[in-house]
Amino acid sequence: MTTKKQRAKYGAAAFSGIEGELPTQWPRTMGPNCMKYLQEVVDSGLSSDMVTRFEHAFAEALGVKHCIATPGCTPALAVLAAAFDFEPGDEIIVGPVTDYGTIQGLCKENYIPVFADTAPGTVNASAEPIEACISDRTRAILLVHKTGIICDMDPINELAEKHDLVVYDDACQAVFGEYKGRLAGTLTKAAGFSFDAEKTMGSDVGGCITTDDDDLAERCRFVGQSRGAYSKPGYGRQHLVGGYAYRMTQCTAAICLGQLEIIRDQVAHRDKMVRLLSRLIGEIQGITPLPIPDYMNVYSPWMFGISIDPEQFTCDAAEFATQLVEAGIPGAGKGAYYLMPEACIFLEENARKGVYPYSMPPASREYHYGAEATPTAAAFLENWIRWATFCEKYTETHCEIAAEMVRRVADANRC
Ligand SMILES: Cc1ncc(COP(=O)(O)O)c(C=O)c1O
Repeated sequence: MTTKKQRAKYGAAAFSGIEGELPTQWPRTMGPNCMKYLQEVVDSGLSSDMVTRFEHAFAEALGVKHCIATPGCTPALAVLAAAFDFEPGDEIIVGPVTDYGTIQGLCKENYIPVFADTAPGTVNASAEPIEACISDRTRAILLVHKTGIICDMDPINELAEKHDLVVYDDACQAVFGEYKGRLAGTLTKAAGFSFDAEKTMGSDVGGCITTDDDDLAERCRFVGQSRGAYSKPGYGRQHLVGGYAYRMTQCTAAICLGQLEIIRDQVAHRDKMVRLLSRLIGEIQGITPLPIPDYMNVYSPWMFGISIDPEQFTCDAAEFATQLVEAGIPGAGKGAYYLMPEACIFLEENARKGVYPYSMPPASREYHYGAEATPTAAAFLENWIRWATFCEKYTETHCEIAAEMVRRVADANRC
């Protein structure tokens, strides 16, 4: 039996024991060459160049100059936060519906996360609410492409240019998704990816940074992989800054390399299935699938999400989700805990107590977190249900079964 405590620790992997009519991502589909690459690592006596090979292969697949492998997206974004080298108390505008991994690096660098609200009816921030958050302390915008829906980048990039802000993104959930023909991870100054076991390109615990900026890449390697040290002749490592020693393991890189060979086909299939499932579910009265914007020519969905119209049902979203699980949709549940301004209770506590960097200075004003900070996102999540077990194993029949399950639960709970 999976406990709540285990879920908090392992995320969606905690659902790995679930079996039923609908597939889950477990066990993961592995690229045919994963074992060959792992064998190479072992045969080389751990002297292989697997990490570099993966970095080159991923950069080439994305069409970017640099890929810097990390042990996950949380460390990738932490390294970027350190590499940008803003001042403590500087503000970074962040999408509010996400994982703690998005903001961990900001907090550790003593930057102040300012959450922009979402655009109505969806999970992502857009240019308008972002603009409302800009102050003279804003330095960057960190976007999240929640579920794999890519934010509407052109207006956001224009806004950032006007205000001289860095834009970078958490592309964890959008691997090989495309915005107007451009891949996630190529749309901003830099991006962080996750290759965690449960993610779309599941490869054990790993991630990376992608960028076209030579100086930034160099700094990420220096701060992130080289412990902020250079080698002084006749002495050894001297540490110029407090760096990390965040490196991907050779074995993870071997699996990543193998998974990279099958991911594009998997994403193409996910895209087809998510559009079919959305169409089928969109026919059910009172249920709205997460809208897929026209600019998304490839949607690489990590999870599937629906909104229920509370006026049309006798139960709330939590109860609706429980019934979906009973009907056979593994892992269906409310995603309310993705609301970072509310879930990160330490932020509000620190802001209230004036804990550094919320002290004056370096903070320039009063900050407020909690659900009220992003009311549109909070209201949306109140009626939003998602299942992270949606995956490339879905066939058309699975989409029909899933839609039928939703329909039955909806019909059983109509007002
Ligand atoms: C949007 C988002 N950002 C960051 C992370 C953290 O990634 P990792 O586990 O690779 O550190 C996750 C993981 O679920 C995520 O979904």
